[in-house]
Amino acid sequence: MRRPMVAGNWKMHGTCDSVADLVEDLANQVFPSGVDVAVFPTSLHLGFVVECLEDLPVSVGAQNCAHEAGPGALTGEISPAQLVDAGCKLVLVGHSERRQIMGESNELLVRKFAAAQASGLTPVLCIGETLEQRDAGKTLEVVGQQLDSVIEELGIGAFVNAVIAYEPVWAIGTGLTASPQQAQEVHAAIRAQLAKENSEVAQGVRLLYGGSVKAANAAELFGMPDIDGGLIGGASLNADEFGAIVRAAGN
Ligand code: PGA
Repeated sequence: MRRPMVAGNWKMHGTCDSVADLVEDLANQVFPSGVDVAVFPTSLHLGFVVECLEDLPVSVGAQNCAHEAGPGALTGEISPAQLVDAGCKLVLVGHSERRQIMGESNELLVRKFAAAQASGLTPVLCIGETLEQRDAGKTLEVVGQQLDSVIEELGIGAFVNAVIAYEPVWAIGTGLTASPQQAQEVHAAIRAQLAKENSEVAQGVRLLYGGSVKAANAAELFGMPDIDGGLIGGASLNADEFGAIVRAAGN
């Protein structure tokens, strides 16, 4: 049995005051013991959030890391080793906003994935198609390539300690959610692709769905056989809503 995971991606949100309020509200949530919970604040707030959540069963991750384990001359970047030092357990790799807006390629993301693992972080590899690609019938091809770039370079063993988040780009922050059937179809294809290399690894890896998940649609999505939880953006900025999503994964 895979243990569900629900992760909150806070993106570029939060001030010192609002983050303090959010972690305080998170501390008042009842989280089921059967679900792994994680939050991804901005790098600026990582240390503070790690400290505040120390006694809670909530892991903290970063939204990005350098492509080298570090240390080194890489102005403006944060190494995976520094993230570990700051108390992080996980890191997002290849969120569509970074692929699309920051131009991060599959090649660069493989290096980030490898550097994260080498430093002891669990990478959460984000993959997903644009609306244009879906409309052209290319969803499985695009997602398959994003996944293959890691398998080819690092081998299937890289997924023993990694999480995959399927996030259709058209569903992120738009209020449009993939239907449970649409999401399940892609999740099943991802698991089948991994199973071609190693069925044990494929069965063990957690596949999160992301894209406009909220308390109202979480249970239906998480009820699908290959959806092992969610990566939550907007709805994770409200502790009550996020708590309800976590509880949906526990049922
Ligand atoms: P959303 O974002 O829940 O606001 O759609 C999800 C994500 O980008 O991880």
